[in-house]
Amino acid sequence: MKINIAFIGFGTVGRGLGDLLLEKREELARDYGVEYKVVAVSDIKAGSILDERGIDLEEALKLADAGTSLETMPAQKKGLSALDTIKSSGADAFVEVTWTNLTDGEPGYSHIKAALSLGRHVVTTNKGPMALHYRELLRLAQDNGAKLKFKGTVLSGTPAFNLFDGPLAGCSVRSIRGIVNGTTNLILSEMEKGRGYEEVLKEAQRAGYAEADPTMDVEGWDATAKATILANYFYGTDIKPSQVKRKGISSITLDQVIKAKNRGERIKLIARADRTEGGAEVSVSPVALPMADPLANIMGVTNALTFATDCLGDITIVGPGAGRRATGYSLLTDLLSIARG
Ligand code: HSE
Repeated sequence: MKINIAFIGFGTVGRGLGDLLLEKREELARDYGVEYKVVAVSDIKAGSILDERGIDLEEALKLADAGTSLETMPAQKKGLSALDTIKSSGADAFVEVTWTNLTDGEPGYSHIKAALSLGRHVVTTNKGPMALHYRELLRLAQDNGAKLKFKGTVLSGTPAFNLFDGPLAGCSVRSIRGIVNGTTNLILSEMEKGRGYEEVLKEAQRAGYAEADPTMDVEGWDATAKATILANYFYGTDIKPSQVKRKGISSITLDQVIKAKNRGERIKLIARADRTEGGAEVSVSPVALPMADPLANIMGVTNALTFATDCLGDITIVGPGAGRRATGYSLLTDLLSIARG
């Protein structure tokens, strides 16, 4: 199977996928029968190039990492907007990795709609459009015979959604509890060692884990978006982030963290989605967990989800939830799933 790919957005996550595509070119062809060509890259900062004969991905990555415009490369067309790239690139699949906007999902929402309306596949890690417009976008994909994959919106490359159409097919999820935001988990973990909130937040920002506006992390918005996507995927609902009961960690004090520890508990920002009669109940809030709870022992930027299932009882998945390579990998696995049908 040959697949033509276009990048809409070429920041950390897009480049993470770029690294893996280059590194695994032979492996993908040999083990999965998948060959690819990158036909366009359009990024608001890095520039925009389109060439249906194929773009030199290695060179594009070098330039973008060095902060040099991609438009210094040879290409059939340069400077196209993201929407014009979608209309004219002829790509089979678009990698939508522009920034997350939890207010209206733009510009990712328009990009995804444009690509799906043309019957093109989309893989995305963009939480805004998926949390705010989940049902509408999936319906649009279905109506146009296209696939929309969004594995990396929750737990980056660590399996969550795709567990239940692969190894756990036929197993039903009753409730989900998890740590889905690395920044707040790092802050809470380090506060236990006596470090201040502001200092650790700066560290998470430097490491590239925190959202551009860290209020999204600390006030629980990022976790809310992820919990919404989980509920809508697993329970078939159409819940919006505004319907989620949300409380962040900005009011948690060092004293509360230490006192919890002395009682044999840990405060964690827990995202929860429970199946209810005909719907779901979704919440995000700090909870003091007993140490015997597997989620109490998830430290630093690591994420985890405990699925309560009908066939196997509780299953806890632990792994990275952010980062260039881990999130880039989520896109690779989504592309492979599309290419392999
Ligand atoms: N800001 C997010 C986090 C990034 O800290 O987990 C991954 O979605």
